[in-house]
Amino acid sequence: MDLLEGIRSRKSIRGFKPDPVSRETLAEILETACRAPSAMNSQPWEFFVLGGDVLNGIRKKNVECLHSGAPPQPDHIVIGWPNDSVYRARQVGLAKGLFKLMGITRDDRAERLQWMERGFRYFDAPAAIVIVVDRTLSESGPLSDIGSLMQNICLAALHYGLGTCIEDQGVMYSGVLRELAGIPDTKRIIMAIAIGHPDPDFPANALESEREPAEKITTWLGFE
Ligand SMILES: Cc1cc2nc3c(=O)[nH]c(=O)nc-3n(C[C@H](O)[C@H](O)[C@H](O)COP(=O)(O)O)c2cc1C
Repeated sequence: MDLLEGIRSRKSIRGFKPDPVSRETLAEILETACRAPSAMNSQPWEFFVLGGDVLNGIRKKNVECLHSGAPPQPDHIVIGWPNDSVYRARQVGLAKGLFKLMGITRDDRAERLQWMERGFRYFDAPAAIVIVVDRTLSESGPLSDIGSLMQNICLAALHYGLGTCIEDQGVMYSGVLRELAGIPDTKRIIMAIAIGHPDPDFPANALESEREPAEKITTWLGFE
């Protein structure tokens, strides 16, 4: 796939076919993704790749935590958006787009909760990649590096016909991951990426999320 075509066509996939993804394929994706740039080539990333019974157990426990009202215990920095900001407006725009495609109405709380649950189930993907960094590193320092890495994972996945969704919902209950995936306390859990074969019939996968034109947010200096 052409590089620009890959960048332009990548999108978050939130419905997957049950078909498994092989360990070899996932290993190749990670090997390629690790070509990502990082500050001073520090390569702060490490992976826990989850599938099979382990992933199913984590999905189940995440959903139990969600329904029990257990407070999330994220390790990573969770970003909030000021209510009257353009960022919050974009978040609302995304939710509206997804709910419209899924036929979920604004006041249907049960359907909305079910939708939220999907994220905590890694959208029922056959695999999930959990990215961790060593706690000796600063909390925010490695995040730029992790951003490059995650984009590489998502783009490399396209080569294998796979779809992805980066999701912090998948790492909100860090205690569940520590217990069931054996992630030690010495590692900070940053983000999860659900990965698998996209289900073309899943309505939310049709979403084309909006973007601000780059021209609108760019200041040119020293050009005609
Ligand atoms: C750091 C990060 C966290 C995200 N967390 C979630 C999440 O928890 N649930 C979800 O459905 N999508 C999540 N996403 C996907 C974004 O909603 C998505 O990238 C954005 O709406 C743009 O859409 P696109 O990926 O289809 O281009 C996350 C993306 C990033 C980069």
